[in-house]
Amino acid sequence: EQQVYTSGLHSNRPPFTFQTSEWEKLAKPVLSGSAWGYIHGNAGAGSTYTKNIASFSKYSIVPRRLVPSLKDAQGNELFSTASTTVLGEKLNFPIACAPVGVQKIFNSAGETAASRAAASIGVPYILSTASSTSIEDVAKANGEGGQRWYQLYWPAREHDDITISMLNRAKKAGYTALFVTLDTFVLGWRPSDMDNGYNPFLHADRIGVEIGFTDPVFRSKFKDEHGYDIDEDAKTHPIDIEGGSLSKAAQEWTKVVFPGHSKSWDDIKFLQEHWDGPIVLKGIQSVADAKKAVEVGVQGIVVSNHGGRQQDGGVPSLAMLPRIVDAVGEQIDVLFDSGVRCGADVIKAVALGAKCVLVGRPYIYGLALGGEEGVRHVLRALCGEIVMGMHLAGLRTLEDVNRDILVRDSDLF
Ligand code: FNR
Repeated sequence: EQQVYTSGLHSNRPPFTFQTSEWEKLAKPVLSGSAWGYIHGNAGAGSTYTKNIASFSKYSIVPRRLVPSLKDAQGNELFSTASTTVLGEKLNFPIACAPVGVQKIFNSAGETAASRAAASIGVPYILSTASSTSIEDVAKANGEGGQRWYQLYWPAREHDDITISMLNRAKKAGYTALFVTLDTFVLGWRPSDMDNGYNPFLHADRIGVEIGFTDPVFRSKFKDEHGYDIDEDAKTHPIDIEGGSLSKAAQEWTKVVFPGHSKSWDDIKFLQEHWDGPIVLKGIQSVADAKKAVEVGVQGIVVSNHGGRQQDGGVPSLAMLPRIVDAVGEQIDVLFDSGVRCGADVIKAVALGAKCVLVGRPYIYGLALGGEEGVRHVLRALCGEIVMGMHLAGLRTLEDVNRDILVRDSDLF
């Protein structure tokens, strides 16, 4: 990251700016109106999103001075290090790429490019169930050294066979942890997508996405029910993009994955029986649910409100983080997302107790702006800012990054 910083100072030009606040603005004109609406859009009036972003400026980092640097074996001074252990895996930085669906919408290189870029920086990549590239192809792009985790949109219990098939595929392809998203059993009320008549599944279907269509169990069930192969679907049921109708396969898949609220905490057992690795529940916002997660014996949670895309009028995710950490932080890994936009935001979330921070929209803006190189630039910039921000504050390792380094702005004046 020191290298990133010095190359930023010299003539080695980045593909686009290092100014994190500019990425969103730059991405807008390179995306179609509906793709922009999908990534930037939020639930309802956007109040959860607005609060997510604003919450970070409610805290300030108080730097320490004359802190001697770490030294290597030869006595050379070292930069701060942001390495950590999350879900039993060693990470160089406390960040991961959040699961984001249908990435080919933003750049035709899609998940392949993003997962390759993540591996090249040493950042774990979480693949969405709503991916536009198959589980296996993303694993191949992410490569042998890549760290990858699989996010599940959990099919209805009558489709346990499909769930098992997806879990087995992910396990076989080297995804080591399972992230189960609990806040999206239906898609949120998203005015931008409704105004644009935009359904990512419809659009995704047109560009030939995975979204589970390659799953052998889903395919054979589809064939049994409809009497023809899923690949024939586009021909048999031409998609009416303007009219907004979904293809049969997309309709079926949506029914499988977004079936309403049919599961309870008892159902987690089923996933534990079929996944032999860490399980992380994504979308926790209450202390009570965090305690339930401990009770059912999962290894982690993500304190997340889906970036404000599901519940309008919701609590800012960062506000719940310290409360949840106080309740369960000793027992399970508490991860965090929603609203992280720069390195300082990551430092603040870690100081409030997050073991690892998922970054959503920023790397997708990078994907839109520059494909693989764009994602690499975003991740490199964030990692560089984290390490530089720690170094400047006299924080040598993540152990030093705790609540003592923060003040609440409301207490300052
Ligand atoms: C998401 N998110 C998401 N989460 C998930 O579990 N599965 C998914 O398929 C998606 N898809 C998705 C698409 C798009 C376009 C966005 C912006 C987000 C939510 C994501 O994982 C994460 O929780 C948020 O993006 C975090 O908020 P920020 O970083 O975008 O503010």
